[in-house]
Amino acid sequence: MASTKKTAKRIGILTAGGDAPGLNAAIRGFGKAAIGHYGMELVGFLGGVRGLAENRFIDLDSKALSGILTVSGTLLGTSRDKVHKMTVDGEVRDMIPTIVENVEKDGLDGLVCIGGAGTAKNAQRLAKAGLNVIHLPKTIDNDIAHTDTSFGFSTALGIATEAIDRLHSTAHSHHRIIVVEIMGHRAGWLALGSGIAGGADIILLPEIPYSVDKIVESIQRRASHGANFSVVAIAEGACDVETARDLAAADALIGQADNAEGKAAAKKHKKALEAAHRGNAFALASQLEAATGLEARVTVLGYVQRGGTPDAEDRLLGTLLGGAGADLVARGEYGVTVASQHQRAVPVPLKDVAGQVKMVPLDHPWIEAARHVGTGMGD
Ligand code: F6P
Repeated sequence: MASTKKTAKRIGILTAGGDAPGLNAAIRGFGKAAIGHYGMELVGFLGGVRGLAENRFIDLDSKALSGILTVSGTLLGTSRDKVHKMTVDGEVRDMIPTIVENVEKDGLDGLVCIGGAGTAKNAQRLAKAGLNVIHLPKTIDNDIAHTDTSFGFSTALGIATEAIDRLHSTAHSHHRIIVVEIMGHRAGWLALGSGIAGGADIILLPEIPYSVDKIVESIQRRASHGANFSVVAIAEGACDVETARDLAAADALIGQADNAEGKAAAKKHKKALEAAHRGNAFALASQLEAATGLEARVTVLGYVQRGGTPDAEDRLLGTLLGGAGADLVARGEYGVTVASQHQRAVPVPLKDVAGQVKMVPLDHPWIEAARHVGTGMGD
């Protein structure tokens, strides 16, 4: 810890966005250091930023933080609300002024927002409105800029890997293609990591648009060597070359729009493209079945990837970043994400994190490793 000096700060904490293993470890990591080491008072807002807007909170004392390290989910609850666009009584409202008022009314010196990329944006909006905010990076997607890893990723990686292991034996026994859809939002970290660790034969990522013909070639190549089954790990954001082109064109339209209506229409168009793309794993399985003559099945891993007990790494990371967050708050260093870089907790300005997506770089060693062992990448 940076200092043993006691302060009497009163801090609010919340968890927002999709849940992930390690959230309670981070609440505990921050809380134990804040209360036990720095003598701060801690309150926990319920249900993410909605609880902040509605001023619903509970006192968090040492007793409340005890026994939660290994517990899944988040003891505070979560939501996917946006602070500047929240539906309240059927109306979309900017809740930032209400939140600022609540924070003042509650006598809070600072706010800790634990969450993913969306939460970083919320935190940045609140920081811009003058609040003392820090952000702790959580997400199974591992797509937060400037942090090597976010907590939740390691556990999800283990779950997805085990699922691929299990799918292997059934694919092999039935001589089938199994297409397994893996979460990750727009990034391929989870599919790539679990695909390599689980020995998937083909891994499809948003970062590498695929061609169905290339996947068919990989499957046929395997069949020609006597392997008449294949496991295809597809990231939920992966798409074929044509769809990727359409999405890139839609992004360009959003960028070029010179007024609010134009931008809204371009965004609507992109949303429609993304909606049409959902369930892509099923379409791909049908195409592969038709082209190879092998039966194909789909498994969507879905929310099992986010649930359950955090593994050792996520407990460790949540505790490390939580404790470092308390050091920053004690020093009055706000407006940052507490990133993990080379095993250290490093404060990175929120403005550099919010709105960024950490995709898998095409020269990442994991991609090279996959190619080295002959994994098809659909290109
Ligand atoms: O961000 C975590 C994540 O699980 C993504 O992988 C996935 O795209 C998304 O959340 C699902 O969101 P929701 O919980 O809103 O269905």
